[in-house]
Amino acid sequence: MYGATVDPVEDTQAQDEKLQAFEMRIKQGEKIEPGDWMPDEYRRQLIRMISQHAHSEVVGMLPEGGFITRAPTLRRKLILLAKVQDEAGHGQYLYHAAETLGATREEMLDALLTGKAKYSSIFNYPTLSWADMGAIGWLVDGAAILNQTMLAKCSYGPYARAMLRICAEENFHKRQGQDIVITLATGAPEQKAMMQDSLNRWWWPTLMMFGPPDSDSPNSGVLMRWGIKTKTNDELRQMFINQLVPDLQALGLQIPDPDLHYDETTGNWVIGKINWDEFWQVVKGDGPCNAERLATRRKAHEDGQWVREAAAAYAEKYGV
Ligand code: 3HC
Repeated sequence: MYGATVDPVEDTQAQDEKLQAFEMRIKQGEKIEPGDWMPDEYRRQLIRMISQHAHSEVVGMLPEGGFITRAPTLRRKLILLAKVQDEAGHGQYLYHAAETLGATREEMLDALLTGKAKYSSIFNYPTLSWADMGAIGWLVDGAAILNQTMLAKCSYGPYARAMLRICAEENFHKRQGQDIVITLATGAPEQKAMMQDSLNRWWWPTLMMFGPPDSDSPNSGVLMRWGIKTKTNDELRQMFINQLVPDLQALGLQIPDPDLHYDETTGNWVIGKINWDEFWQVVKGDGPCNAERLATRRKAHEDGQWVREAAAAYAEKYGV
């Protein structure tokens, strides 16, 4: 049963009453705030999810960051620069949200840099062409928007509020991705071929981003019970597929799934089998870019040591 730290003095009946009151608040749509009573499992789940979300934002800067110097025009360069900077800010919001639950920045960063913590599988794939900036902006950020729009209704106040700000910026990210995809898909044959190659590489890893199938999602039960998630992994994945397939096909792009078909009765686009072995291989650290991404984050952390020391010395000297 989900319980908070049992106070040896407080009997289990009092604990159960607190849990019932907590669950009633959530049922009534109240937000749980940092100083409120909450079961330890609620706190643990949120620290797990929010810190891994923050890691995903920060690691997510890397695949696109490498193309800032290779953007085809100054305008595209400025847009991509702004987007990558946004992701850094999203990481800060989310680390702060996790800190409201008692997690420390040092613990979270240590968990990332030692490989103990997860971050989104999607960021362990290589970016091979400018078209990938379009695929990431439209598909990956589009998927993130579906997930984060759901999380904006999360029962934990700081997380829900962070999502409101992040979703607003993600919509800009998605628009710039759509603009790149449309430009290439309706451009010269070489441009369209580059976009098709990119879609072939990003379609399935983006579907995996939503997490394992509901039948294999150990955290979903308690997250749904306590209103942290309000839609399941499969529900969000299906929403994404139904949104993207018609739009991409309208651009003359092929979805790389020979089994894809439309089900008139459900109104859903039905996909072929997702390669869950690949997913778990990437989640467990053996994806195409896992080692490179973590090495880059570790080097950035080491290179920033002097900044942290200077800031700490300043704070100590001036008592700020
Ligand atoms: N990548 C890496 N690990 C994943 C994963 C993925 N795509 N999907 C699931 N997992 C992990 C889970 O973390 C869990 O492991 P853990 O218990 O050790 O943490 C395990 O696989 C089982 O999965 P569950 O479905 O039980 O886990 P959840 O119920 O937590 O669902 C989730 C997974 C949908 C990712 C959920 O955690 C979530 O919504 N997290 C918050 C949003 C988030 O992190 N999004 C990542 C993308 S951020 C982004 O794209 C930024 C944008 O600006 C570009």
